[in-house]
Amino acid sequence: MATLEEWDKNGLIEWSKNGNPRKIIFADEREGKRVQDIWEFKDPQYPVYPTEKNKDLLNLIIRTSSNENSLVLDCFCGSGTTLQVANSLNRQWIGIDESNLAIEATKEKLKESSIALLTSKTVYEFVDLSETK
Ligand SMILES: C[S@@+](CC[C@H](N)C(=O)[O-])C[C@H]1O[C@@H](n2cnc3c(N)ncnc32)[C@H](O)[C@@H]1O
Repeated sequence: MATLEEWDKNGLIEWSKNGNPRKIIFADEREGKRVQDIWEFKDPQYPVYPTEKNKDLLNLIIRTSSNENSLVLDCFCGSGTTLQVANSLNRQWIGIDESNLAIEATKEKLKESSIALLTSKTVYEFVDLSETK
């Protein structure tokens, strides 16, 4: 709070219409390239699973919204692409899906990454909750 007040006093805060503070960061203070509001990524042409997402898109989302060792939860994990990318970025992960097809596709996808999984000492297990319903 003290930091926010200090920044505000120094004109480094812009206030949104509904009163949310946003720190003003000048272009020369930024490292790297600014990410635009509209992102263009094509979904895979021959997806393993019908709604499979582009890995580069998932990579960008995970890198910019979590840190190494963060826990990524994909509670509709489909074929597990998000889990695979999260794993490659050294995040911990949990995937959930109600579809057996999705679970099988996820298992296959994680097998594809088995070299990375073995070398990164990743440990994971599948938990089948269908019999608890
Ligand atoms: C758009 S796909 C997920 C794509 C995935 N997040 C990825 O990274 O590629 C949506 C998934 O949600 C699952 N799903 C839908 N309703 C669900 C529910 N109530 N509980 C668990 N999974 C569900 C579907 O089986 C489907 O696989």
